Amino acid sequence: MPDSVDTVKGTTERRKGEHVDIVINEDVKSRINYWDDISLVHSALPEVDFDDISTEVRFLGRKIAAPLIISGMTGGFEKAHDINKNLAEAASELQIPMGVGSQRAALENSELEYTYSIVADYDIPLRIANIGAPQLIKQGEKRAYGIEDAKAAMEMIDAHLLAIHLNCLQEVVQPEGDRRATGTLRAIQSISRALPVMAKETGAGIGASVASKLKDAGVRAIDVGGLGGTSWSAVEAYRAERKGDGVGQRLGETYRNWGIPTPVSIIQSRVGLPLVATGGIRTGLDTARALCLGASAAGIAGALIKQASESKQAVLAELRNIIEELRVAMFLTASPTVQRLGRRECIITGPTKEWLNL
Ligand SMILES: Cc1cc2nc3c(=O)[nH]c(=O)nc-3n(C[C@H](O)[C@H](O)[C@H](O)COP(=O)(O)O)c2cc1C
Repeated sequence: MPDSVDTVKGTTERRKGEHVDIVINEDVKSRINYWDDISLVHSALPEVDFDDISTEVRFLGRKIAAPLIISGMTGGFEKAHDINKNLAEAASELQIPMGVGSQRAALENSELEYTYSIVADYDIPLRIANIGAPQLIKQGEKRAYGIEDAKAAMEMIDAHLLAIHLNCLQEVVQPEGDRRATGTLRAIQSISRALPVMAKETGAGIGASVASKLKDAGVRAIDVGGLGGTSWSAVEAYRAERKGDGVGQRLGETYRNWGIPTPVSIIQSRVGLPLVATGGIRTGLDTARALCLGASAAGIAGALIKQASESKQAVLAELRNIIEELRVAMFLTASPTVQRLGRRECIITGPTKEWLNL
């Protein structure tokens, strides 16, 4: 069947629902969590009171209460409205940034805007819109998105920042994926001239040369979205299995652990831009490890989706645990502020060390 606009609409909506369902109900994590290779060094004499530890930071000029970002996950179907609402309520209560998932579904069908725009009803210090880099390039019959679409995505959620996601791994293992990638950097550059853009990988990481190219293209921040957490290849393997597509299943399983580990990605992407460490963050200790390596904030997706599908209280409880764990790491490393934590020593072992000795 030709890929008409109507099939694009229906397929995108259905796919988004399947993704959330699979991430909640199946094991889709990559096999290694590289954050366990990073150790912070204990200080027996912190010379600071626990109650004086402050997690407050500025990120891209906005004051946020903790260096944590709820990474873009969803939108485009009814249940996604409730998920985004639960996440937005928690982000507003805790005063931390949040992103929405790819807004393509609503850019194609305005009836779905409400599933994203709900986040604009809340006082969130940094709202992050989301479009896919593959959509910036003409793919078969599908038109390429330009500045006007990017602006529309930002306006839809009254965003402060636009994430352009890079997801070649997912597109190439997905039977209906967009496989043209020539011209991506130029398209990102042209949007970055007009709008504040954060380049964002989605689980396969950013290496040194890509980070430099993105900086030269004018992005304001990089979310390295590295290997170690949700594996989109694993998600697509489950989708293929459910459809009885053996070829797709095999491809997804083969590439389940493909990518640059998140801690490696943070170290390699230190090109002078604010970095977000997303990919496998489960705890406040992981967050502290990321900050110690040079990230400005840690992003969390998979570890919050189940709670987000339940209630605002469940999201809040998990995030409060993470913030408390972060404060403990700051106390035990004698770091009263996040800036101080960023200057602390950390020890790198295991596969992450091997990666860095490339
Ligand atoms: C259910 C779900 C849907 C996602 N959808 C998007 C998306 O639409 N756009 C995007 O940029 N990233 C998306 N992501 C990727 C996350 O933002 C993040 O980069 C990735 O999951 C790695 O983080 P994690 O290990 O904490 O899950 C999604 C993640 C999940 C779990």
